[in-house]
Formats: sequence, C-alpha cells, structure tokens
Amino acid sequence: MTNLAPLFLLDPDVVFLNHGSYGACPRPVFQAYQDWQLRLERQPVEFLDSRRALSPRTQAVREAMGRAFGADPDDIVAQVNATQALNIVAQSLDLAPGDEILTTDHEYAALEKTWAYVCQRTGARIVPVTVPLPLMEEAQFTDTLIAAMGPKTRVLFLSHITSATAMLFPIARAVAEARARGILSVIDGAHTPGHIPLDLDALGADFYAGNCHKWLMAPKGSAFLHVRRDCQAMIRPTTISHGWEAGKHGQDPGPFGHSAFIDSLEVQGTRDPAAFLAVTAAMDFREAHGWDAIAQRCQAMAAETGARLAKLTGLPPLCAEEFRAPQMFPVRLPPFDPAQLQPLLMERYRIEIPCYQWQDHHIARFSVQGYTRQSDLDLLVTALTEIFALKG
Ligand SMILES: Cc1ncc(COP(=O)(O)O)c(C=O)c1O
Repeated sequence: MTNLAPLFLLDPDVVFLNHGSYGACPRPVFQAYQDWQLRLERQPVEFLDSRRALSPRTQAVREAMGRAFGADPDDIVAQVNATQALNIVAQSLDLAPGDEILTTDHEYAALEKTWAYVCQRTGARIVPVTVPLPLMEEAQFTDTLIAAMGPKTRVLFLSHITSATAMLFPIARAVAEARARGILSVIDGAHTPGHIPLDLDALGADFYAGNCHKWLMAPKGSAFLHVRRDCQAMIRPTTISHGWEAGKHGQDPGPFGHSAFIDSLEVQGTRDPAAFLAVTAAMDFREAHGWDAIAQRCQAMAAETGARLAKLTGLPPLCAEEFRAPQMFPVRLPPFDPAQLQPLLMERYRIEIPCYQWQDHHIARFSVQGYTRQSDLDLLVTALTEIFALKG
C-alpha cells in the first residue's frame, strides 16, 4: 500500500509520531479550509450572515457528522475544541455543595482543572477512582465505577480514549448504569472521531464532546458537542451573544433558523468558521483514499511496534489490546527524565514523540497515521534500544 506522507504538510525532516496531540491535516483538506477563508474575505457580510449563507453551511456539516457519528444533526453543535465544549457543559450544570463528580485517574489535565474550577465555585467535589491496571476485563473498569456511584454522585465524567495512557475505555455500561441512577454522563471524546466507530445515539451519553482536528484530520479548531435532546435546556453558553434566547421574544424558531440550543452555541460573535466547514472535506478525503483499510494497517503497525518494544523492555502493557487506543501506543520505559528524553529523541533521531511520567509509569506515546512509514517505527525502536541499552 502506498505511503501517504506526500499528501500531508508535515516537515519531511521530522519523524512525526505525535499525531495524537494536534492531528495533522492533509493538503487537500487544508486547501478546502483556505478556500472557505478566501470566500469569507471576498464578501464577509454575506458569508457571515447566518440566514443568507452560514446557517445552511453549518447545518450541512452537522448533517454529515450526524451520519458519521450516529446522531441526529439537531443534537450536534459546532465547537472550536473539546476543551471549550466540555467547559460549556461543566459550567452549565447546577451543582451544589457536597455533590460529587465521579471520574477516573486517567483524565486530561486541562479538564481536571475545569472540574476543579467548577468545584471551587459550587462546593461540589471530584471523586477520582483508580482504574485497575493492567485493565484486562471490561468488568474491572465498570464495576469499579459502579461501586463508587452513591447518593451524592451527580456527574460521571470519563474520557472515551485517554490522553496519557492511550487507553480505550469501555464506557458503554458505565454510561447506562449512570443513566439508570439519574447521574449525568459527560464524555470526553477528544480522540475518538475518525479513530474508532462512534454511534452517539446508541451510547446514550448525556453530553459528548469530540474533536475533528485530531484523528478525522480536519483543520485545527473543528470540534463538536453532542447533547441529548432532554438535556439541551440545561446548557448555558459561556459566551452570550445574538444567538442566546434567539427563539424567544416572538421570533420562534429564531432569526438564525435553528433551535435555541444550536443558535446559542453557534452564534457567538465574529469568528472564523472555516475549520468547521472543512470537516466534510476531511470526510471526503478519507473516503477517497479508502481510510478504513489505511486505519487497519496503522493499527497493525502500532500493535506490532508496541509488542516489539514491550519485549525489549520486559515491561508488561497497561491493558489488554482491546482497551488500547487503536492508533496510539503508550510504550512503558525504564525511568527517565522527560525534560531530557524528548529533546534527545528530536536532536539525535529527529523523532517527535511525547515522553512523560504518569503516576509511576514512564511513557513514550507513539501514534500511527496514514503518513507513518514502517521505517519511522523501526527508527523509534532503534532509538529507544540505544538510549536505554535495551537487550530484550
Ligand atoms: C483526552 C483529551 N481530552 C481533551 C483534550 C483537549 O483537546 P483540545 O485541546 O482540542 O480541546 C485532549 C488533547 O489532547 C485529550 O487528549
């Protein structure tokens, strides 16, 4: 199968193994993004006029997302990133002193801060459970969460794919159990669109945020928030603009043509919608290149390289393969100083890869995407073997 590196804008002098942080946008998708920007600048008034041009265009993207992610387009709204989307949710909830937000010890640091901020303001508290490692069975995960659900639990906050540990959490039963107990589920899907199959309606989470700029390969600044219909009235935008209460004051369904939920979150002052509008170009690109087969090849390469490294280090994996993010691998290594290892890998081998300590584990997380060559992964194995004097 041909390597797709020439279709990307990445620096050919860098062995780029960190797709997970910010994604990478293919040339034709980036071109589509810039085309939207040029059209905007030609006639800004018409382009940004919701009724004349913008609303039907964002609607078309929401419809494409609905088809791709198993959701009603009216339950999806454009967002700039998962952090923003999850902030809106966290800051919308009516929490009181003593209320509990149940979560895990694998969450993304920025969102831990978001909940800490919400707790400071409301008197609620975060209850992080320790996910049993190595995670080999779904029940280890879900039963740990169920055991921690109590009368004060108001929110269940989970990553679908975790950042530091690159794990694919089996969240379905936990979400259902939360619902059965009247606990709101808030899911951080920053890594899932374009990475794993999504069926948002079947999952039934109350709030689900996803990024399109990571694995779907849309331009940076393209994300969505999905909210179950019966929870949409809870949402309070963090920015109040023309779209707020647009459907009220005798203007139903509102001057922007959508529900109060969509208008209040999409009409938020002057901003550039080009990245969101280019999401369909990313979907088209993937389809044109038969991305399912490419993703499968990437998954096989990730698994094979991860297994080679585990054999060399002798360190067992954090989880069974079914609970690992398909295209990311958290390589456990002997103790290292992240401030030294990351620059060393770049300076000596030109490898871009995140290296960090998570709890007691020292991890280098590599990503495999359509542009990754087998030789890139071989170089990573060589580099780590040399640096850590691995013998297997
Ligand atoms: C699990 C997780 N959640 C949230 C985010 C934040 O994504 P963004 O910066 O696009 O908001 C990341 C980013 O890597 C992440 O890994």
